[in-house]
Amino acid sequence: MRWIQMSCESSNIHSVEGNVSRIRRQFVLLAEIAGHPVGFCCAITGRTSSDPLFIQLVTVVPSVQKQGVGSALLSAIAHWQPHRDIAMATMDTNLAAYKFNERLARSIGGTIQSVPRNRFRPTDLGITRDEKHRPWLITRPQETN
Ligand SMILES: CC(C)(COP(=O)(O)OP(=O)(O)OC[C@H]1O[C@@H](n2cnc3c(N)ncnc32)[C@H](O)[C@@H]1OP(=O)(O)O)[C@@H](O)C(=O)NCCC(=O)NCCS
Repeated sequence: MRWIQMSCESSNIHSVEGNVSRIRRQFVLLAEIAGHPVGFCCAITGRTSSDPLFIQLVTVVPSVQKQGVGSALLSAIAHWQPHRDIAMATMDTNLAAYKFNERLARSIGGTIQSVPRNRFRPTDLGITRDEKHRPWLITRPQETN
């Protein structure tokens, strides 16, 4: 995980202990190509069953971006909690991340919308409280009986 953190622009580099602690507290999914780690995704579930799944971080090493790795990670995370809506935050300037999340919404038949900054706790979204991040909510399609 540290190797990917060193290679990815949007990820802070954490100590081994910090990463172990994160893996204990969160759902962490690692993507590999031919045995080499190339990306990871961290998520937590909300406290109640009606709370969303919070995607706190998804990052792919630059050399294999735009080859479907990020989508594969998000798809696996989305299937892990198939009944929860999905929330995440992106930097206002990160159009690629928005397009990426929009694609996830489409792939699960959901809709993505911007929600007020105070809708979710920054710690659930994995961000610090600031004006640069915009929270999003992907609403799953209604289940039919
Ligand atoms: C965002 C990120 C995780 C996407 O991972 P990826 O493996 O490159 O994404 P995919 O190849 O699965 O692309 C899926 C979709 O995302 C969108 N997308 C990905 N990169 C994009 C870019 N540079 N510009 C515009 N759209 C982009 C496209 O809609 C793409 O679908 P398409 O190929 O059908 O057009 C990766 O670019 C990354 O690690 N960026 C730095 C970290 C970051 O910004 N993380 C997100 C916020 S936490």
